[in-house]
Amino acid sequence: MSNKIILYVLLALSAAPALADDLGKYEDESRAIVTPFMQQLMTENKKAIMEGGVESAIKVCKEIAPGMANDLSRRHGMKITRVSLKVRNPLLGTADEWEQKTLKQFEVRLARGEKPEALESAEIVNEPNGRYFRYMKAIVLQQGCVACHGTGEQLSDGVKARLAEYYPYDQATGYTPGQIRGGVSVKRPL
Ligand code: HEC
Repeated sequence: MSNKIILYVLLALSAAPALADDLGKYEDESRAIVTPFMQQLMTENKKAIMEGGVESAIKVCKEIAPGMANDLSRRHGMKITRVSLKVRNPLLGTADEWEQKTLKQFEVRLARGEKPEALESAEIVNEPNGRYFRYMKAIVLQQGCVACHGTGEQLSDGVKARLAEYYPYDQATGYTPGQIRGGVSVKRPL
């Protein structure tokens, strides 16, 4: 064996356990960003509904959530977004291939009896333009979301009118509490 080959073998052997450790570390780091982000959105949603009624809570999903996700993305040097298989805003909410696969797996895991709040997934993937750590945590639909994401009769005429005006191609209705509305996705360049 040439020295070069021996070196490659040694590198491959030493890299394997390190990668497993890194995956766990990246996962912890992502969770530490995503969990408070999701908690704050729930709080903002409740606060807005209490203070100004349901229609005023539109700004939480429309402005506060994307704004916070942008700030977090810039601050941490990774892309943090909310995505879904049935989007209201296709520009921000459309899932890429990995996100679609992961959201579909979440549906299968939910059907098998896993708790929706505990659904998360992490993976290191090679993409055409580089290597990335990918992470997703499920966004579970709560009672406080049905006024805008629930079934027809749960949406007031006012909310329906606003949604029809802003999002004529809206797909993000018809949900019941406990269902998966989407996921918070983290894409971190390695
Ligand atoms: C007052 C209405 C309203 C309420 C209540 C509401 N949303 Fe939304 N939601 C919206 C709007 C409007 C958008 C589109 C935002 C945009 O333009 O990017 C949206 C978008 C989203 C998205 C991004 C994906 C997509 O479909 O575009 C997620 C995820 C989401 N909402 C989850 C929730 C969850 C979870 C709750 C409950 C905690 C909730 N929403 C409560 C109005 C609402």
